[in-house]
Amino acid sequence: MLELRLYLAQRISAAIMAPLVLLHLGLMIYAIQGGLSAEEILGRTRGSLFWGGTYGLFVIAVAVHAAIGLRTIMAEWLRLRGPLLSGLSWFFGFALLAAGWRAVVAVIGG
Ligand code: HEM
Repeated sequence: MLELRLYLAQRISAAIMAPLVLLHLGLMIYAIQGGLSAEEILGRTRGSLFWGGTYGLFVIAVAVHAAIGLRTIMAEWLRLRGPLLSGLSWFFGFALLAAGWRAVVAVIGG
């Protein structure tokens, strides 16, 4: 059943994001000690499989979570249904995935 699968996917993605947000905050506090420079950040992230995987997972979780959340809001507020509701939800999900992917590639690759 679609609604049940979406419900589970939104809660699983929330559970993935919660520790990642804490890790991200902790890392930011650590990273700004003694000033913050682009070289310093990129030196840490460039070519790192660990950070690439961590932020990649973060991006996937956000895209899944936000698309499902927006779907609920569009259904309730705009009374959208059917293919239009699904199409817009997929669109937002892929747009977030694309934007997040670009950001991950920018700090990990290059
Ligand atoms: C650590 C990060 C996050 C956690 C733990 C989290 C947790 C949750 C949970 C548990 C729900 C379900 C609420 C319910 O059904 O009553 C929810 C709904 C939602 N979340 Fe998140 N969330 C996080 C980040 C985000 C982000 C980054 C976005 C947007 C970019 C977002 C957008 C939404 C939306 C739109 C809903 C739908 C609300 C609804 O169904 O009425 N969340 N979130």
